[in-house]
Amino acid sequence: MSAPQWRAYSRSGAPVEVEACGDGPGLVRHADVVVDEQGGRHQVNRPVVALCTCAKSQRFPWCDSTHKAVRPR
Ligand code: FES
Repeated sequence: MSAPQWRAYSRSGAPVEVEACGDGPGLVRHADVVVDEQGGRHQVNRPVVALCTCAKSQRFPWCDSTHKAVRPR
C-alpha cells in the first residue's frame, strides 16, 4: 500500500513544515490549505495539524488516531 497523498500550502508563500511523527501522522505547521488525493481542498484553522499517513482515517486527510490500531507498536 502506498502512503496517502496530500499537499499542504500557505497562502502567503511561507514555507510549510512537515514533521514525521513516528508511525503516526505528519505534523504540518503554517499551512492554510490541504489538498487531498481527489483534489478536495480543506481549510486549515490551526497552527499545527496532524495529517493521516496510514490511509485508514475516517476523517482523511486529518489523522483520527486509527493508525494506533493498524500500526501497533
Ligand atoms: S496516521 Fe493517524 S489515522 Fe492515519
